[in-house]
Amino acid sequence: MKRTNKTIYRIAHLSDTHISPEYNRHNVGKLRSLLAFVVDEGYDHIVLTGDITGQGEDRDFRSVRRLLKYFGLLDYERLSVTIGNHDIFGGVHRAEDLFSFKTHCRTVNYADKLKAFEQAFKETLPKKAYPSQEVFPFVKIVGPAALVGMNSVSKFHAVFNPFGSNGQILPEQIQAAETILRHPTVNGLKKILLIHHHFNKYQPLADSIAKKLYHKFEGQTLKLHGRKWIAETFGKIGVDAVLHGHTHVDEIYGTSGVLYSSTALDSIRAKSDTGRNEESLAFNELAIDGDGEIEIRRRPLVGMPKGSSYIREKNHRMSR
Ligand SMILES: [Fe+2]
Ligand SMILES: [Fe+2]
Repeated sequence: MKRTNKTIYRIAHLSDTHISPEYNRHNVGKLRSLLAFVVDEGYDHIVLTGDITGQGEDRDFRSVRRLLKYFGLLDYERLSVTIGNHDIFGGVHRAEDLFSFKTHCRTVNYADKLKAFEQAFKETLPKKAYPSQEVFPFVKIVGPAALVGMNSVSKFHAVFNPFGSNGQILPEQIQAAETILRHPTVNGLKKILLIHHHFNKYQPLADSIAKKLYHKFEGQTLKLHGRKWIAETFGKIGVDAVLHGHTHVDEIYGTSGVLYSSTALDSIRAKSDTGRNEESLAFNELAIDGDGEIEIRRRPLVGMPKGSSYIREKNHRMSR
């Protein structure tokens, strides 16, 4: 059969926007720039893979909604979201807050926060059969893709998840995802999972001792329980791609026959040709061509510092 190689559907993958008027004031402007770029470029769909807010507070969600509404993105056909640990537990902003943050995480009502998230993005989520049903995992069919949104945020545990940042996907959720993906209605569609937590090794580059120490701490608190087994299961059940965030490292990789996309609003990128590690506005593009082949690549970044060589794209292509 003659290959067409013509892109028929493009998804812009954004993550970890950490919108919080109180703590991350500049992120609203950064997200506005990124959304303006993506909307202007005419992407078919936009995906936000968690940590959409910085603290999971009502005002954070209101701030995000205002922005999405401005761009006409509070729309089932245009936007899909999944939840991140910051949308439930928030995060630490100063080292001296570490102890009080653990106390805060203990008192967070996980179910209430999940409901608040669902309410904040209700226009983009599928209708549930009955109100008490868990929103995750959900499936949306958009263009040639079946998007499955999953919740990987682990509940608080004094030993295993004291800062709320570790991930876990319960077997019931994986079974539910498998049932969805084996259903005849998704036959022939590209199967794309939206999950906040990561499946690769967390290895950010750091250019100062303070950053190295910070990342060492982060590395201990950014884990997805059973990720190897989960990744193998994804391969077995025919997942084509997984879009995630959480590590704030831009990376496109493959494991167990599945393509993975990792990004964040302020991604920590690999060293540029000038030898510097810099944070830049970033997103990844997932393109599906007429033959059903998926390609994920970094896009030239918005707001990139002058003289940076990050514009050199590192493409990763994998067929299934
Ligand atoms: Fe994050
Ligand atoms: Fe996260």
